[in-house]
Amino acid sequence: MPDPDPRPGDLDPIETASADELRAVQTERLRWSVRHAYDHVAHYRAAFEAVGAHPDDVRELSDLAGLPFTTKDDLRRNYPFGMFAVPREQVARVHASSGTTGRPTVVGYTRGDLDVWADVVARSIRAAGGRRGMVLHNAYGYGLFTGGLGAHAGAERLGCTVVPVSGGMTERQVQLIGDFRPEIIMVTPSYMLNLIDEMERQGIDPRSSSLRIGIFGAEPWTNEMRREMEERLGIDAVDIYGLSEVIGPGVASECVETKDGLHVWEDHFYPEVVDPVTGDVLPDGTEGELVFTSLTKQAMPVIRYRTRDLTRLLPGTARTMRRMEKITGRSDDMIILRGVNLFPTQVEELILGLPALSPHFQCVLDRQGHLDSMTVVVERRAAASPAAAATAGAGLGRMVKNRIGVSIEVSVVDPHTIERSVGKMRRLVDRRPIR
Ligand code: DLL
Repeated sequence: MPDPDPRPGDLDPIETASADELRAVQTERLRWSVRHAYDHVAHYRAAFEAVGAHPDDVRELSDLAGLPFTTKDDLRRNYPFGMFAVPREQVARVHASSGTTGRPTVVGYTRGDLDVWADVVARSIRAAGGRRGMVLHNAYGYGLFTGGLGAHAGAERLGCTVVPVSGGMTERQVQLIGDFRPEIIMVTPSYMLNLIDEMERQGIDPRSSSLRIGIFGAEPWTNEMRREMEERLGIDAVDIYGLSEVIGPGVASECVETKDGLHVWEDHFYPEVVDPVTGDVLPDGTEGELVFTSLTKQAMPVIRYRTRDLTRLLPGTARTMRRMEKITGRSDDMIILRGVNLFPTQVEELILGLPALSPHFQCVLDRQGHLDSMTVVVERRAAASPAAAATAGAGLGRMVKNRIGVSIEVSVVDPHTIERSVGKMRRLVDRRPIR
């Protein structure tokens, strides 16, 4: 049998192509994708017509700015299959968001799309230092969520030995890691913390585990959290980003040699950053809302899809493709507390600078009278005394006041009292009555 990947450590040629070569590929693909969406999805035809736009107007990448945005609401309105650009029979698989608020959003893939997806995830794992032949423990949830199956196919494509554990059964996961000796783990950062805690509970030194590479995503996490996990587990921790509407995990990923933000695989997913209020395209380097246009997707092309994720675009380093900075948060997760904007990631950064506090925390919003208030509920580390943790908690309150500019309450609780997630952690608990 021919070797499917004769040069296991090698990059796709496009990853190191010149900027001009990349632009040429993107321009050609963009024109195809816009035409494909317009010709085959009633929503896009109507949305283009409403603003007087036409696929023939798109000649350069910058012409994209003249096209209308696509939002999650557009996807909801076309539930379940209205955004598909191919006959349903050609859709090989669907995934869907959990749909905790309103209707779920459904996404579809042709065989060709699944192939591209596996390629970009394989590229991501390789960027993280993964190689053919390594054992990979996949603890992203399998099912309608794109994490599990997306990571799985990419790991197989690279030639890893995949352990398809999915989320949950934490005790058993720790046992499997001990028995199968994986070098790579793919999981949400918050669930990784639970696994590390469980190792310690079982008397296992996490640094003695076989794991060497962690590929963490699906929720925001900070560089402080990276240090925490790298130190406690003795691994390289890299960030992987994606969203189901665009394809799933593998839209952008960090390179282990630089760990300086996520290279957007922009030969398939073209990024823009826009002002969240006006929708104006912002220059690279300026923070705003990330917007994606798919360049090769067949079943469900997306044109200028508004992710609500906040970041900025930076020039390429380890690869030609541009980087996006680690995500600060979603605009939905931005807390506006008495006029001051605040993200849970900012709280995470401060907590991790205080050794008596653990990274298990939640921001609880409440309302007293007409005034919103926020309490950061944070667990003390098992090794810290309650007195030391209380002092750290008071310090956290002062730091939030000094650095972010708003008063909050801090409640330090015992270890293992905050609900644990098996997938994405809920950082924000909103107890404010609806006005
Ligand atoms: O979370 C896909 C994924 C799975 C990515 C596994 C990475 C690893 P959705 O459930 O559609 O898809 O959620 C997408 O999650 O818009 C971000 O708000 C957030 N998100 C995903 N990756 C990151 C990340 C998957 N690395 C939404 N950093 C996105 C911060 C992330 N937020």
